[in-house]
Amino acid sequence: MRIGSVQLPSPFAIAPMAGMTDTAFRRLVKRHGGCGLVVTEMVSSEGLIRGIDRTLEYAEYTEEERPISIQIFGGDPDKMAAAAQIVEGMGADIVDVNMGCPVPKIAKHNAGCSLMREPAHAASVIAAMTRAVSIPVTVKMRAGWNDDERNAPTLAKMVEDAGAAAIAIHGRTAAQSYTGTADWDLVAGIANDLTIPVFGSGDCIEPEQIVGRMRAGVEGVLVGRGVLRNPWILSHAAALIDGRTPRPVTPEERGRFLLEYIDLLVLERSDDARALTHDKWVINKLRALGSWFTKGLDNGSHLRTAINSASSLLELRETISAFFFCAHAETAR
Ligand SMILES: Cc1cc2nc3c(=O)[nH]c(=O)nc-3n(C[C@H](O)[C@H](O)[C@H](O)COP(=O)(O)O)c2cc1C
Repeated sequence: MRIGSVQLPSPFAIAPMAGMTDTAFRRLVKRHGGCGLVVTEMVSSEGLIRGIDRTLEYAEYTEEERPISIQIFGGDPDKMAAAAQIVEGMGADIVDVNMGCPVPKIAKHNAGCSLMREPAHAASVIAAMTRAVSIPVTVKMRAGWNDDERNAPTLAKMVEDAGAAAIAIHGRTAAQSYTGTADWDLVAGIANDLTIPVFGSGDCIEPEQIVGRMRAGVEGVLVGRGVLRNPWILSHAAALIDGRTPRPVTPEERGRFLLEYIDLLVLERSDDARALTHDKWVINKLRALGSWFTKGLDNGSHLRTAINSASSLLELRETISAFFFCAHAETAR
């Protein structure tokens, strides 16, 4: 499939997830196959324009992640256009606009999902961006703001007319946050109405669900929490869609994933100024991933507790190795 001029090797993508889908995590998932696109965590348009270090870090990526989409948030058309130019200058393949974030800190600044409440203004943001850059501009939205304003079908058409090259829809309203279930009928209906590719997002925890959603009519699927639980889910979905049986993941492979994640994180953001807090940052990243990665594992709650109580990188590595590699740990499970 293609987004504008960008060819995707697979229709499955890692959904953007603030705090989770950093470059290290994306690289590891990508190495396991089946992933056609990665999207950064959301990045502030204001922060990009002002060159704030922390913002620029969120937008970092490596060549092996291509094709890469950098997601930005903001509500001012001129600033979003300027930020898109910065993203293009950083070498990204695609610039994505966040119209789905329900968090008040973002939404109150006329950004994130609150853009959905002003469709004409949201379309003017996309029009300004598409005029400013030559890379594809895409949009990620929700079903709407709340049950009375489920306007994704109308807004999707408007942003397509404004020049968007693809759209992703998480089939929940902002009011729902993550409660209830994603409305895939709504998503499939929009995919049917538009000419540009439509990705669906929401509640794919098993690879079979991803394949089922594809068959129901979307061009691609963005997987969020399912990838945090099972980083192999996209490669398993790719196998299923090709008629192959996915290879089960061994406990050792799961353990190796976490250890490699630590190794990659240790190499990142490790300038002298941060030396003292760097280990703590890595430990916190592992705690964040651990809360998802351990779900559904035999004895996963024990591992989660052990990761949360590890106070050094050495202890963290030992905890993970003992759980996944030691024969006695295996028998105890
Ligand atoms: C921890 C977390 C952070 C998220 N951050 C973002 C974000 O930065 N930008 C965005 O568009 N969506 C964000 N989302 C929404 C996801 O991209 C996705 O649409 C949503 O989680 C539904 O898909 P899932 O059920 O596969 O997780 C986030 C979701 C989670 C769970």
